[in-house]
Amino acid sequence: MTLADVTYLPESPAHDAEIDSINEEAFGPGRFTRAAYKIREGGPHDRALSFVAVKDGLAVASVRMTPIAAGEGRSYMLGPLAVRPACKNLGIGRRLVAMAIEAAQAAGAPSVILAGDEPYYGPLGFKRIPRGQISMPRPVDLDRLLAIELVPGAVVMLTGEVGHVAQLHVTEPLRIAS
Ligand SMILES: CC(C)(COP(=O)(O)OP(=O)(O)OC[C@H]1O[C@@H](n2cnc3c(N)ncnc32)[C@H](O)[C@@H]1OP(=O)(O)O)[C@@H](O)C(=O)NCCC(=O)NCCS
Repeated sequence: MTLADVTYLPESPAHDAEIDSINEEAFGPGRFTRAAYKIREGGPHDRALSFVAVKDGLAVASVRMTPIAAGEGRSYMLGPLAVRPACKNLGIGRRLVAMAIEAAQAAGAPSVILAGDEPYYGPLGFKRIPRGQISMPRPVDLDRLLAIELVPGAVVMLTGEVGHVAQLHVTEPLRIAS
């Protein structure tokens, strides 16, 4: 297959079953025990900032964005990001990450964070969050906590345990205009 076969769409509820299947294939049953999953259990992801890659009418890759808070800071957590094995290494993952970041920036989000592989996300603009600045509700390799800053000074505002905005009863608007 080639990239010409692939289109990119904002996620809709019609994609939910296909996205579950993509994530099951990519991460297996262990995905439910991950720290990021625990945060995502706290409330919904933001479909407006989440995207799928579609081929022949079926979603073949997905990225989701979840609104989070940590201390005084607000952000979005990117993930899960997963691509069907047959569609890997075509730039689809990178493209989905770029789309999610662009959408977050357009929405006024101050930063995007994630727990993931620095060798993959580093070239896409993510940097390590200093060890100990934030924590997750389940054990995680702290060197995998990465962030991209969209508003200067936003990442340092993220402190303490990361949680879903709904779980933390955050009432202030998340989408802070820059
Ligand atoms: C990681 C993943 C999303 C990448 O999607 P993709 O569409 O294949 O990636 P892209 O085509 O945009 O990029 C491919 C490049 O990333 C590299 N890459 C893939 N996974 C990587 C990783 N975990 N660490 C470092 N580099 C990685 C590939 O080797 C390739 O490098 P090249 O361009 O030098 O050849 C996909 O492999 C996947 O779904 N993996 C399983 C789920 C997962 O681990 N998701 C979270 C990632 S931390």
